[in-house]
Amino acid sequence: MTSNIENIKNVVVVGAGLMGSGIAGMAAVAGFQVTIVDLDKKLLEKSKEQIAITLERVGRKKFKQNETKINEFIQNSLRNISDSTDLLEVVKNADIVIEAIVENLEAKQKMFQSIDKIAKPSAIFASNTSALPIREISKNSTRLDRFCGLHFFNPVAVMKLLEVIRIPETSETTYKTVMDFGAKMGKTCVTCKDTPGFIVNRLLLPYMSESVRMLERGDASKEDIDMAMKLGAGMPMGPFELSDLVGIDTMKNARDFYHRMAPENELFFPSPLINKMVQEGKLGLKTGEGFYNYK
Ligand code: NAI
Repeated sequence: MTSNIENIKNVVVVGAGLMGSGIAGMAAVAGFQVTIVDLDKKLLEKSKEQIAITLERVGRKKFKQNETKINEFIQNSLRNISDSTDLLEVVKNADIVIEAIVENLEAKQKMFQSIDKIAKPSAIFASNTSALPIREISKNSTRLDRFCGLHFFNPVAVMKLLEVIRIPETSETTYKTVMDFGAKMGKTCVTCKDTPGFIVNRLLLPYMSESVRMLERGDASKEDIDMAMKLGAGMPMGPFELSDLVGIDTMKNARDFYHRMAPENELFFPSPLINKMVQEGKLGLKTGEGFYNYK
């Protein structure tokens, strides 16, 4: 079985939020024709602004001070992107659909079901979910052999990793095609079965949860825990610095999700400290204060 990557030209990204905008921007840089879809025009406008900012950053890094080259790069990439609120129309042309809508199983199932009969028979469906089982998301689909997870990381323009998730039905051709697709987007692809948290979050969540528990028990200060993990375990960032970057609300959501999945596991019991921080709006870097103060 060989890859079908040469047939992948039109990419539809559903959901123009943080992740959808990142994925769409980088797919456009890679030369794909991208259509980004969201519920209303305002959200698409915001996404377009975000994509332009990202492209400028990527362009500056790539071409240093060469303003002509930077502008050319931005314009060429932007030319590859269009947007729409009419998913059912644009999906007819899609070779691959990447879903990055709200993290809600029913919403994702419904979205994929709505396009199942409309998309070309050859089109591949992929979900960018962080935590939901891909097989559940694909439940109502008639194209299980062309279904998979493509888990990008935030910010998409910076993070090199792409987790490719295979459900038991994912065909070898689909798998090879999405691996090539990831590589074309400049990502290093790793493969994982459809297991909770895939690779990165499965390992990261227990680690992050235990660091908060250490702090709550008073075992060590956040500064010392961060320092210890940087100098003793070679981590580029300590767990509290990383929490502030990811967002305390996102950390809480992930932890709550794991708690619901494994209610007996103490690691994921609700954290009074995290709950209080979320209540007080101390969500990390994005609000100016989290475990550390950035104001
Ligand atoms: P977000 O909230 O920034 O964006 C979601 C977008 O989807 C919104 O603009 C919303 O209007 C749109 N949307 C909702 N329902 C829709 C529908 N039926 N049709 C079209 N658009 C719809 O969310 P974010 O952070 O971008 O996450 C999206 C997905 O990516 C989630 O499944 C999340 O778990 C996953 N993810 C998030 C990461 C992160 O760091 N935020 C990292 C990796 C994956």
